[in-house]
Amino acid sequence: MSRITVLARAVQVLAVCAALLPGTGLAAGVTLPNGSPEKATEYYKKLSKTLGIRTPDTVLSTNLDEVLAWLGYRGLATVDLENLSPEALMCLGAPTCGDVKLSSPTGLSQLLQQGPLRPGDILVSRFFAPKITNVAEAPEKRSVGFRKLIRLKAREGSEADKHFIESATLIFNYVTKPNEAPFAPGVRSFNTQLALVSSGYPRPDPSCRGEDCRPLLDSIYWMDFGASGQGAKLSLQLDASFDARGLQPLQAGKPAGIVSYYVPDGCDSCHGDPPPRLGRGVLNELDTDHWFDRVAPTDDFPQLAKNGIPVLTDGGNDQTSAQFARAFDVIRQLNKEYAEMQARVNPKSFHAAATTTWLRLHEQTRQHRPPIERAIAPALQGPGPGLQWVRSSSEDVELLGLLNRYCFRCHGSIRFSVFNKTEVARRRLDIRMRLRPKPAQAEIEGYQMPPDREIPPADLERLVTLVNNLPRVPE
Ligand code: HEC
Ligand code: HEC
Repeated sequence: MSRITVLARAVQVLAVCAALLPGTGLAAGVTLPNGSPEKATEYYKKLSKTLGIRTPDTVLSTNLDEVLAWLGYRGLATVDLENLSPEALMCLGAPTCGDVKLSSPTGLSQLLQQGPLRPGDILVSRFFAPKITNVAEAPEKRSVGFRKLIRLKAREGSEADKHFIESATLIFNYVTKPNEAPFAPGVRSFNTQLALVSSGYPRPDPSCRGEDCRPLLDSIYWMDFGASGQGAKLSLQLDASFDARGLQPLQAGKPAGIVSYYVPDGCDSCHGDPPPRLGRGVLNELDTDHWFDRVAPTDDFPQLAKNGIPVLTDGGNDQTSAQFARAFDVIRQLNKEYAEMQARVNPKSFHAAATTTWLRLHEQTRQHRPPIERAIAPALQGPGPGLQWVRSSSEDVELLGLLNRYCFRCHGSIRFSVFNKTEVARRRLDIRMRLRPKPAQAEIEGYQMPPDREIPPADLERLVTLVNNLPRVPE
């Protein structure tokens, strides 16, 4: 495989793993499905009928503002969600809130006409998102991803509520230049993802009769919206201009040969167990610890810490402050809700194990814990010898550190989690081969790992050696 192809491949997979994208498109040779425009169109039409969002004939021209109204938030516009501070959004409608101005002069009264807003109906968190950052760029030029996450409970009596949707989680995505503080006033999301969580999965008693009988619903309905500056219109596929800007340099003069990524297959690939079972997706843990790892002096984003740009935007840099506690507690609440959702939908998924582990660790502390303390315990691993990464082994500490830096970005949600030692040991040979493929294997697109960058030779050497030393476990 030529260097150009390798890099183009890296772009494809990186784009997928950016988790920004309408679909988990992976090109030929890679077994995650990437869907198609036809499938995505059909999906949205079906979703329209199931959830009562417009009609199948017109759903493709819907936008995020309409979906907000459908959730019971008429009056609150996309631009308000992006521009207002988390503090202002979370206290909307409360008498203590002060004077919050929405973009429409009648916005607030419209919003409150639909019933009172209860505390906790809206949760907001802004954070550094290494996931959506192109690590193949040189550190000094590396732009940095940030996300604003908003969880809205479907309001009582709304169309969403009538269609058994409990909540909507939105992710606005932003990329900043190196050294630039995120969330400058007026900056708009270039792509926005939405998960509508239903209360209809698993299906209640199938023999059920009468009013309580719910239709068979997916656990999550996925939607994706294009650039907010252009109306946050429903999109089937990636807004390619982001890739063109952020990733094109990698392609060494090739035109931006970016594959398209479509809902829903891709979303379920990372938001569910392998093989992805469509319709049984779960939300993914918000792993604050991993974000903090990545700004350490020896990791990929030391400039953030150096420039005093906080990992949790609203928490500031002092992990013992009340401000940090408030920001952290929003994430804690979200992860609690995710754990409940995961336990209901797919309790054995490794995604559920990850969330449970985060919650246990952060029951007592809000402070950053290092990778070795975050190992998945044997009890959460499912069948197998139940190996665990341990602090007393310097090899474990070193190997898990490398896997966390170079692989977790994808192998925290795709196929296996690097925090599960049994799953890593099981793949010992495969990992070794994929790190240093023979020429014939290197020809296979997507075979070589990691696909998003070249590992510095010294680190690669250590990875191979340490993986080699892992105990032998049946595959
Ligand atoms: C490469 C894996 C990957 C793919 C593909 C992916 N996601 Fe995610 N997604 C994640 C991870 C991991 C998080 C947690 C937030 C983070 O780490 O930035 C997340 C978070 C989210 C969230 C916030 C709620 C939560 O689960 O934490 C939404 C909404 C979301 N993704 C929607 C989508 C949609 C829609 C698609 C398909 C178009 C998609 N995702 C595809 C990995 C992925
Ligand atoms: C940018 C995303 C990404 C990164 C980073 C990444 N991988 Fe992967 N990896 C994938 C995808 C996607 C697949 C699925 C490919 C397929 O099915 O052919 C995969 C598959 C694998 C597999 C085989 C799948 C299985 O179930 O056993 C192994 C082993 C693997 N990767 C190891 C690694 C290691 C080790 C690293 C870090 C050094 C790494 N990967 C980093 C995306 C990534």
